[in-house]
Amino acid sequence: MDLEDLPGVGPAIAEKLREGGFNSLEVIAVASPAELVAAAEIGEATAAKIINSARAAADIGGFETGDKILERRQSVSKLTIGSQALDSLLGGGLETQAITEFYGEFGSGKTQIAHQLAVNVQLPVEKGGLNGSVIIIDTENTFRPERIKNMAEGVALDSADVLKNIHVARAYNSNHQILLVDRAGKLAEELKETEKPVRLLVIDSATAHFRSEYIGRGTLADRQQKINKHLHDALRFGDLNKAVVMITNQVQVRPDAFFGDPTRPIGGHIVGHTATFRLYLRKSKGEKRIARLVDSPNLPEAEAVFSVSLVGIRD
Ligand code: GTP
Ligand code: MG
Repeated sequence: MDLEDLPGVGPAIAEKLREGGFNSLEVIAVASPAELVAAAEIGEATAAKIINSARAAADIGGFETGDKILERRQSVSKLTIGSQALDSLLGGGLETQAITEFYGEFGSGKTQIAHQLAVNVQLPVEKGGLNGSVIIIDTENTFRPERIKNMAEGVALDSADVLKNIHVARAYNSNHQILLVDRAGKLAEELKETEKPVRLLVIDSATAHFRSEYIGRGTLADRQQKINKHLHDALRFGDLNKAVVMITNQVQVRPDAFFGDPTRPIGGHIVGHTATFRLYLRKSKGEKRIARLVDSPNLPEAEAVFSVSLVGIRD
């Protein structure tokens, strides 16, 4: 079934919907009427009708029994980070259909892990990969093909091939960044039937633009709302593509902290609620880094030591 088969959707509206990132029945089924109104310049009632028909056709929603959910949980795949200690901390690697957030100060290894995952996702399943390609939204211009080369060699993959399966877009501001998740959806749709479907979305950094653009107390609510929507878009991408979503986040120093670690992640609880797993990275001696799992629905809070070496993330 095509978008044009939905009641009230002619070629012109279908075109606008696709341009707005609503390129499949599944995406429309989980959209809100207001989103469709904005994307296709249609009335609220028409939008609601389109969403309802898409829901019926896409078979999304409704209640499920626990055993069915367990069955689906077993279809969740895991992506290796390259360090056994880090993988075990996460119960075997980064889960698909979930957001994993890495936060920590500069140089703590967030971007290095993003590069490593972009390589590892291309590995076959028996080697901890997902045999897929990756989309990277790079907000700080820190993507380095040279690092990919080192890391590809580190796992015995051909670096030229590996680079071809990494789709990088530079985000110039927060609105652009939000738009790029839509674009990512389109690209993933195009690559779905190919040898390397998109199985990983990286947003590095997810919060930096928001942080620099929304300054002052009066803008905080607006900023949080935008971040919230952005992360839900990313999560939806993960669901629809059975992909891992990895985001990075910086920390800010909390001036009012009297004891404990005075740093905390940007975006606070808004990011925390949407990210299924949160890892806090700290620098240690030399190449060593410490990761702490701070939030997970089913894993204990714990720490692991890993290192950032020339060939990538290792124990
Ligand atoms: P910000 O984005 O600034 O917040 O930091 P980040 O957490 O993304 O840091 P990133 O992942 O870029 O880590 C940078 C660190 O990785 C450097 O300080 C080095 O310690 C290490 N690193 C980067 N490239 C290499 C390399 O080629 N070899 C080795 N051994 N280490 C590297
Ligand atoms: Mg970085």
